[in-house]
Amino acid sequence: MGELRGTHVPVLLERCLALLAPALDRGDRQTVHVDATLGLGGHAEAVLAAHPRTVLIGLDRDQEALAHARARLARYADRTHLVHAVYDELPEVLDRLGYERVDAELFDLGVSSLQLDAPDRGFAYARDAPLDMRMDQTRGRTAEEVVNTYEAPELTRVLRVYGEEKFAARIVAAILRERAKTPITSSARLATLVRDAIPAAARRTGGNPAKRTFQALRIEVNGELAVLERALPAALDALAPGGRLVVLSYHSLEDRITKRAMAARARSTGPIDLPVELPGTGPTLRLLSRGGEPPSEEEVAANPRAASVRLRAATRIEEGEGERT
Ligand SMILES: C[S@@+](CC[C@H](N)C(=O)[O-])C[C@H]1O[C@@H](n2cnc3c(N)ncnc32)[C@H](O)[C@@H]1O
Repeated sequence: MGELRGTHVPVLLERCLALLAPALDRGDRQTVHVDATLGLGGHAEAVLAAHPRTVLIGLDRDQEALAHARARLARYADRTHLVHAVYDELPEVLDRLGYERVDAELFDLGVSSLQLDAPDRGFAYARDAPLDMRMDQTRGRTAEEVVNTYEAPELTRVLRVYGEEKFAARIVAAILRERAKTPITSSARLATLVRDAIPAAARRTGGNPAKRTFQALRIEVNGELAVLERALPAALDALAPGGRLVVLSYHSLEDRITKRAMAARARSTGPIDLPVELPGTGPTLRLLSRGGEPPSEEEVAANPRAASVRLRAATRIEEGEGERT
């Protein structure tokens, strides 16, 4: 397992550590950090190393990722709880572990390099594998089921919305023709089908033409956006005053969901013409990032997987602490 440790460079690591530090350094008090997307444990390890009084609660829906993180974080075993869970299950996990509030939370969304590079998981268009794409291989439907059973309008919507694929209709027509003959069961077969379905001119630009289709299917298979919509409000509810949430998104729809979840609590919900806040209507969050922060050029050069990242961060405030907005 050890050989994977160096292959994943945690995205925006220094920026994440700097944003989380004020919430985790509370003098002698023990603090609690939730890593909602543990992956290979890169961010988590850095947090544990930097904050000796911090307890980590790490979640991942992928049991393979958890096993790797467990090995990597073994020396911190006395202050880590690593849990196989989808991150919208955070309230139940906290309840089970006996924590009412936490001090910091990190969501580093999407897939890990472990998943992308795995020869048998079907996430990568560049490798031939069964069309699975489930992050949690213990439950749920596979990409093969989506590709072979969805009606054309639904499949087109998935590719168009989640993949931002402008040739969605052509690709879906090709999929329907193919699956009428024989089920599509391999990632290489699907990748070839997509490439052949789009106009020749479009094949020459913008990287592998199957990239957007594969991203769309992965988002659909794992219900990624619906889970995130449920998870962020629950995560914000769990933050103690002064607690901080950092979210790294890699897709415009993820970033939009994050932006909305944070904005909803960073503004007053009271009548706009009153000079003072009514009880219960003041902001409970202060934004720490200006819009979705992009990576620097150096970050992308050092870590190509950071290219599409947008970072948003916010801190929980007591009502009345914020300015009226
Ligand atoms: C980009 S990786 C995280 C990498 C990690 N920050 C590191 O430094 O190694 C994302 C991880 O989140 C997990 N994941 C994605 N969606 C999830 C969800 N809804 N609930 C729990 N884990 C999820 C994936 O299985 C993957 O392992």
